[in-house]
Amino acid sequence: MTLEFDADWLRLREPLDEAARAVGLAWAFGRLLPAQPMIIDLGAGTGSNVRQLAMKLGRPVQDWTLIEKDRKLLSKAPGEIGRWADRNGWEHKEQRRAYMITCDDMAVRVEMRSFDLAQDPSDLGLDQYDGVTAKALFDLVSLTWLERFVKELTNCGYPPVLVTLTVDGRVDFSMSDPDDGWVLDLFHAHMNRAKGLGGPALGTVAPQALITALTGAGYKVETAQSDWKIGPKQIAAHLAMISGYERAAIEQDPVSAPRIQAWAERRRLLASEKGARLTVGHQDLLARR
Ligand SMILES: C[S@@+](CC[C@H](N)C(=O)[O-])C[C@H]1O[C@@H](n2cnc3c(N)ncnc32)[C@H](O)[C@@H]1O
Repeated sequence: MTLEFDADWLRLREPLDEAARAVGLAWAFGRLLPAQPMIIDLGAGTGSNVRQLAMKLGRPVQDWTLIEKDRKLLSKAPGEIGRWADRNGWEHKEQRRAYMITCDDMAVRVEMRSFDLAQDPSDLGLDQYDGVTAKALFDLVSLTWLERFVKELTNCGYPPVLVTLTVDGRVDFSMSDPDDGWVLDLFHAHMNRAKGLGGPALGTVAPQALITALTGAGYKVETAQSDWKIGPKQIAAHLAMISGYERAAIEQDPVSAPRIQAWAERRRLLASEKGARLTVGHQDLLARR
């Protein structure tokens, strides 16, 4: 199966992630890092995690490596990071294959690395980094991949790990429809399709699988809910979610396409009603030795 994430979708979800993420775990992650940390972000997309974490880590000099296999997304990262710096009034420039952001009290270097996580995790060179982060990635990986990756973390001296916005399968529409459960079951079954990372994807069991693998390897793990709260101001995201559920459910059960499309039409009407809300369950996790 080919897996592509659209830059527009990543842009749409970025404020939802920012509002949802467990800030206390980000601060705690920052406190585990040395004064000038090197951090590796896996499945980085256009660099959203850097934009959300840089100011929360309490470390004025940071060196990030973004790991991403989709070159199109990676090529958009400097532009997105530049616009973020502009919005904050910070200086930014490209410098020797990396991007530098500077302001009075912070200097952040970001390097983009095109890399497929299906490769041997030892090729990541995790031992060079002081911390590992990933946002919205681990539902895509298989249990085999996760266990191999965690083994590599232990081989590399147990760096602290901050895994955020991992979906956990809870979905709550403020106004219910009789077909919600049926469509969402199809959607969640679709999430388990292999994404090229060692077998069936973990999907909604990813948060629990992370806890089991990391604690089993000797990490101490803290978790917190980081649910998306999609309200009337996020109608574009609400509609995008409905389309995503619809598309995946039809792929999962093509014969039921008319019934699924009818559900999606009703859902679109409900989404535009006053006070319509959608909660999508996510979990954040911090692992330290
Ligand atoms: C849901 S997106 C999240 C992107 C980004 N972390 C964010 O929060 O905006 C998942 C990301 O993982 C990347 N990804 C998926 N499989 C990958 C692989 N085998 N190697 C590297 N990156 C991968 C995708 O290209 C995509 O950018």
